[in-house]
Amino acid sequence: MGDPRLLARSAPVETYRTPELAALLADMHDTMAHLNGAGLAAPQIGVALRAVIFGVTSNPRYPDAEEVPYTVLINPVIQPVGEELEEGWEGCLSVPGLRGWVPRYRRIRYAGHAADGARIEREAEGFHARVVQHECDHLDGILYPMRVRDFSRFGFVEELFPGQDLPPEE
Ligand code: NI
Repeated sequence: MGDPRLLARSAPVETYRTPELAALLADMHDTMAHLNGAGLAAPQIGVALRAVIFGVTSNPRYPDAEEVPYTVLINPVIQPVGEELEEGWEGCLSVPGLRGWVPRYRRIRYAGHAADGARIEREAEGFHARVVQHECDHLDGILYPMRVRDFSRFGFVEELFPGQDLPPEE
């Protein structure tokens, strides 16, 4: 946070199945895996392209965390399904050590393309919908602290959740 590349609007990916796109997605995958993240957007590794990855597998350390299928999503579009907002804790690999209480649409429909260009269309709710909204915000230069409304619920992990294991950051 503070790097101007995280505040820029990213450009669409124009061509699928290129070595450059494959290398970008591999770099994003390695970065997310190394940092144990739930998701990552290309601008978080300094690339201003509209590509995100996300996924959460079940982990006994976080029995309450919902599983999210591992997904590469290029040129994503999100539509809310209904107006209902839900607040929940978020962290971000670009804002390490902090958590904030962030409102998001509870249900969304999202679309985009896989690495090979295949069309993806899904409906999601809850944590899955939250992760997708968080990652796609990165493509428009929005970091989750910009969406925090109640700053009494924004702070350092060790102060907000002393001694607790938390779900992965996005
Ligand atoms: Ni993030």
